[in-house]
Amino acid sequence: MMRDKTVLLGVTGSIAAYKAVDLASKLTQAGAKVDVVMTDSAKEFVTPLSFSSITHCRTVTNMFDTPDEWEIEHVALAERADVVIIAPATANVIAKLASGIADDMLTCCVLATRAPVILAPAMNVNMWENRVTQENLAKLRARGFKIVEPGTGSLACGAQGKGRLADIEDILTAISQALRAKADLAGRRVVVSAGGTQEPIDPVRYVGNRSSGKMGFAMAEAARDRGAEVTLITGPTTLGDPAGMRVVRVQTALEMRDAVKQAAQKADILIMAAAPADFRPATVARSKIKKESTRGLTLKLVPNPDIISEVKGDIVKVGFAAESEDLVKNATAKLKRKSLHLIVANNITEAHSGFGTDTNKVTLIDSQGKVEALPLLPKSEVAQKVLDKVVSLLNASRKNPDKPRRRK
Ligand code: PMT
Repeated sequence: MMRDKTVLLGVTGSIAAYKAVDLASKLTQAGAKVDVVMTDSAKEFVTPLSFSSITHCRTVTNMFDTPDEWEIEHVALAERADVVIIAPATANVIAKLASGIADDMLTCCVLATRAPVILAPAMNVNMWENRVTQENLAKLRARGFKIVEPGTGSLACGAQGKGRLADIEDILTAISQALRAKADLAGRRVVVSAGGTQEPIDPVRYVGNRSSGKMGFAMAEAARDRGAEVTLITGPTTLGDPAGMRVVRVQTALEMRDAVKQAAQKADILIMAAAPADFRPATVARSKIKKESTRGLTLKLVPNPDIISEVKGDIVKVGFAAESEDLVKNATAKLKRKSLHLIVANNITEAHSGFGTDTNKVTLIDSQGKVEALPLLPKSEVAQKVLDKVVSLLNASRKNPDKPRRRK
């Protein structure tokens, strides 16, 4: 995987910089060419020579070093990188990257590269938990940066908490994943729905559910990273717009239906990870219902349309099923009832799975009845597995014209 790949390793000023020497060593042993770029503060902790001795390449430390060849060095480094990893990444470099500041060699390289960028933060727990650091990370995540979360334990500053550089093995896994990233959805148009819907009762109250949007956003980001042109249609969520896709925000299931049906007209794949409300109040009060004016409130609910069933045509349809019992049986019945090519069955009673979590445990069931149970995985990895299956369905359709075809 690493052989013949170029990894740009950025090292910033944290005591964990010494661990980056081990990372450079493991990458080099795995066959990667490692370009190391150090900030001035990093040099206070470890010397450029430590890296050069391992990578057998010049360690770049100064924006104005004379390059070996006649090329603009930060552009050359940025362009030849297959992946950029900053380990350790301090709160300071995270803040600079979030603001687009490019005042040294490393930040210039990140701004100039088109390669995936991974950050492995390391810092004091209070700096990590500080709202501004978290907001900066959220901005970077939304722009497609991958974050390898720090570990928890004793920190060099004496404090206890989150902030230790992640294990080198975890960082290597993130690098391998980024290098493996496929472009097998290039040229495909993918519509993804995410989040729950809110069905108004009156101007302040609504009927809703606990969907956070995380699963749908992970699906949309994974499809984007695999080269698809993505439209993400989402109900209300606290998540910010991911970069590199069209985002349509809706409130109700009826609005979601309109947006999905319109976007699906030109799409190759529809992935409904959203949890649209099955029912809505039959009437919506124009003004806030006064609790004094009623001894209780009885709501009459009417069914919402089933959005995915209404989408017809030459399109691969992937549904999610939130189930609390008889997972495979109930999900298979939904797959058939809604004429889907694939259903991702969620047992929402499992720990760390389903609504609001960062992980999910799902079973993939296709229209041929093939069942694949996956272990508990981060939602980003569930998304990759779902897309692997979608790609195999699309490839199978080339051989079998009865199956969904690529849209012209
Ligand atoms: O958002 P998170 O917090 O990350 O949580 C993720 C999730 C649990 C919401 C997600 O993984 C999930 O299971 N989504 C589907 C939830 C759901 O509505 O399940 P369902 O079994 O009621 O619906 C089956 C399928 O029909 C779904 O693809 C759903 O989007 C679709 N549907 C449902 C109702 C409706 N009116 N129209 C639809 O198209």
